[in-house]
Amino acid sequence: MREPVFVAPGELALARAAALRLKDALNGAVRRYYIESYGCQMNDHDSEKLAGMLREIGYTQAESKADADLILFNTCCVREHAEKRVFGNIGALKKQKDANPALLIAVCGCMMQQKEVSAKLYKRFPFVDMVFGTNELHKFPLLLEEALRGNRVLAITDSEGEIAEGLPIARSGAFSTNVTIMYGCNNYCTYCIVPYVRGRERSRNSSSIVEEVRLLAEAGYKEITLLGQNVNSYCGDGGAVDFPALLRRVHGVEGIERIRFMTSHPKDLSPGLIEAMAALPRVCNHIHLPVQSGSDRVLAAMNRKYTRASYLACVQALRGKVPGLELTTDVIVGFPGETEEDFADTLTLVEQAGYSAAYTFMYSPRAGTQAATLPDQVPEDVKKQRLQRLNTAMAAILQRNNPKYVGQSGEVLVEGCDMRTTPMAYGKLTNFKMVYFPGGEEWIGTLQRVKIIGVQNNSLIGERIDR
Ligand code: SAH
Ligand code: SF4
Ligand code: F3S
Repeated sequence: MREPVFVAPGELALARAAALRLKDALNGAVRRYYIESYGCQMNDHDSEKLAGMLREIGYTQAESKADADLILFNTCCVREHAEKRVFGNIGALKKQKDANPALLIAVCGCMMQQKEVSAKLYKRFPFVDMVFGTNELHKFPLLLEEALRGNRVLAITDSEGEIAEGLPIARSGAFSTNVTIMYGCNNYCTYCIVPYVRGRERSRNSSSIVEEVRLLAEAGYKEITLLGQNVNSYCGDGGAVDFPALLRRVHGVEGIERIRFMTSHPKDLSPGLIEAMAALPRVCNHIHLPVQSGSDRVLAAMNRKYTRASYLACVQALRGKVPGLELTTDVIVGFPGETEEDFADTLTLVEQAGYSAAYTFMYSPRAGTQAATLPDQVPEDVKKQRLQRLNTAMAAILQRNNPKYVGQSGEVLVEGCDMRTTPMAYGKLTNFKMVYFPGGEEWIGTLQRVKIIGVQNNSLIGERIDR
C-alpha cells in the first residue's frame, strides 16, 4: 500500500483562517445549514465534518430545507437510483432559490467526483452555487467564502486524496459514533465505482485514531464503529500496524464499551482478525461480510478474489471462535452473465451462511467500471424477479432462525424509545440484533441487560433483568 500523504498543515491553516474570517463577517447573525446525506457511513461521516466546519463558522442546524440559508447535498453514485434522486431533489429547489436568492445551494460527494456528472449538474442547474468533489472536503470554508462573494464554485480535483487530520466533527450521536480509519479502495470489484471516486486506499496513523477514540470516550461515547471500505486491509504507521493490531490498541482505550467495524472484505479476513475478535471482549460478536454472489463464476467476474468455498470456510472459522457471532452481508443479483444456475448458487449460499440480515441489490451498471461494458447484461425484469426471490428466501431463513434467540439474555445499548403505545426502549445487542423492551427515555445511552421473550418481524422483544 502506498504511504498516505497528509494534507499540509499550511493548507489546513488556510481553510481554518477562512473559517475565522467567515465567523467574523457573520458577527453573530443567525445562519442555518441543512445537509442531506446519501450513501454509506463514510459519506455520513463526511457530512459530520462539513457540519463541524459550518458550526465553527457560526452556522446552526436548520430544522428543514425551508428554513435553511445553506442547503448541501452530499451525494452517492454507487447505484443509479441514488443519482436520479439527487438530480430530482436539486431541481425541486429552484422555486425556493427564486424566492430567496441569498440561499446557497451546494452539492458535493462521490457523485460530484465524476467530472462528466458534475459538469452536467453545474450546467443544468445554474442556481447551484457550489459543486465540489471528495478531495475538496477540507477546503470547504475557502469554497464557501468564494460562494458568499457571489462567485459560482466548481472544484473537482483528481488528487488521489490526502488525509486531512484535525477537522472539526459535529457528531450526530451522543453515545455511539463512527471513526474513519482508512479512506479509498484498491479492490476494483468490476461492478463498483467507489475506487474511482474515493481514490486509492490510505490508512490514518494508529496514534491519531487511538487519540480520537480516547477523546470520544472522555466525551461519554460508549460505542464506536471503525470505518473503511475494507478495514481488513488497514495498514497504518508505514505498515507496522495491521487491523488486528489496531483493534487491540483501540480496545485499550478505557470507557469504550463496544467496538464495531465495517466493512470487511472476505479476501482479507485473516486468522489474526478472528483471534482478535475472539480475544477482545469489547469487540462485538458481529461482522458485516459482503458476499455479493454464491457463484464462483460470478465472483471471479466480479474480481472478488475469493470462492464460495473459501468464504464459507471463513464463516465457519469465525463461528468456531467467536461465541454467538452474527453475520450480515450484501448481495448483488443480476450481475452481467448471471444465469439461473448462478443465482441458484446464491440462494443456497445465503441458506448455508445463516445471515441475520442481508442488504440485497439489483446490479446497476456504473459508467467507467469494467462490468458496465460486459455483454450479457441481465434484463431489468429478470433482475427484479431474482431480487424478489432472494428477499423471500432471506425472510424465510430469518423466520426460521429467530426463535433461537428466545430465552437468551444480553446487553442492549439503548438508542431510543418508541412512545406510540406503552413506552418501548430499543437498541442493539452486541450481535447487532435489535431489541424492543418496556422502558423509558431515561435509559437512552445506557446499557441495559435484557432477556429475550419473543420476536416481532425481525426485531426481538425483551424484558429488563437485573445484572
Ligand atoms: N466496500 C464495501 C461496500 C461498498 S458499496 C464492500 O466491499 O463490501 C456497498 C454495497 O453496494 C456493496 O457491497 C454492493 O453489494 C453494492 N454495490 C456496489 N456497486 C454496485 C452496483 N454497481 N450495483 C449494485 N450494487 C452495488
Ligand atoms: Fe467497491 Fe469492492 Fe472496494 Fe467494496 S471492496 S468499495 S465493493 S471496489
Ligand atoms: Fe459511499 Fe456511495 Fe460514495 S456508497 S463511498 S457514498 S459512492
